Amino acid sequence: MNLLDGKVASAVWKYTMAEEVKAMVSKGQRPPHLCAILVGNNGASETYVASKVKNCAEVGFESSLIRFEDTITEAELLQKIKEINQDDSIDGLIVQLPLPPRISVQKVTEAISPSKDVDGFHPINSGRMLQNLPCYIPATPYGILLMLEHFKINTTGKSCAIIGRSNIVGMPMSVLMALNNEPGNCTVTLCHSRTKDLGSVTSKSDIIIAALGKPYFLKADMVREGAIVIDVGITRVPSDKTKSGFKLAGDVDFDNVAPKCSWISPVPGGVGLMTIIGLLKNTLRAAKKEISF
Ligand code: GUN
Repeated sequence: MNLLDGKVASAVWKYTMAEEVKAMVSKGQRPPHLCAILVGNNGASETYVASKVKNCAEVGFESSLIRFEDTITEAELLQKIKEINQDDSIDGLIVQLPLPPRISVQKVTEAISPSKDVDGFHPINSGRMLQNLPCYIPATPYGILLMLEHFKINTTGKSCAIIGRSNIVGMPMSVLMALNNEPGNCTVTLCHSRTKDLGSVTSKSDIIIAALGKPYFLKADMVREGAIVIDVGITRVPSDKTKSGFKLAGDVDFDNVAPKCSWISPVPGGVGLMTIIGLLKNTLRAAKKEISF
């Protein structure tokens, strides 16, 4: 069994990006600049945004964090997005989800200029992704591609089962693994809550990407010998072994599944770290104006 170690892969990608930033700055350009909007005080969102800001600094990016109380109106938030769209000193903009239920995620997503949409959630970016055109790919699927690239995992011709059809992970991942790219070129089965006999699908698959958010869901009898297993789950579960009283659990029953795998990603220390890399790469591409809209 080989570990798809997010610590190793993310460190190498960060080093490469930091070098690129140094080269940009030495040519007189300003460093890439990510702006994050955080509404309210959701604990998980606070952690994710703090990590995004910290990682920006580590590769030499600038970042701005704009915080609003959860009493902010939808109109006020949309107005702020409009201002940032027009601000040439900012390359990428993310609005951390979830938002208070009063605020339409769809309106917010579509308000962000596609050229600054480093989350890759705007329908223009998802449409371009479907057609294999230059676009921003959502950070987690992008991070998984970068992880596969780092470990030189060849995916062409393989069968790939994806569990979960979320807008952020499962659905875009299914498209990316099917596209005529490397990584990609897989025969993809997108499994979800209505899938019959899911175990019979996963146990025939060369690659399994678990992104359903149910701790320890994927068991050893659902996995074939030699499979490549990628675990996207990160759920806080109670633990009496940690000071905080909780730990992070993946969607894979790692201890029992790992011995059967050729490659497997751990939680923590796997896809979570790569998600940040996906976001940083998108921000760097935005700063370099790599994609013309
Ligand atoms: N909330 C959970 N994942 C994400 C993400 O990738 N981007 C944003 N903006 N919010 C999230």
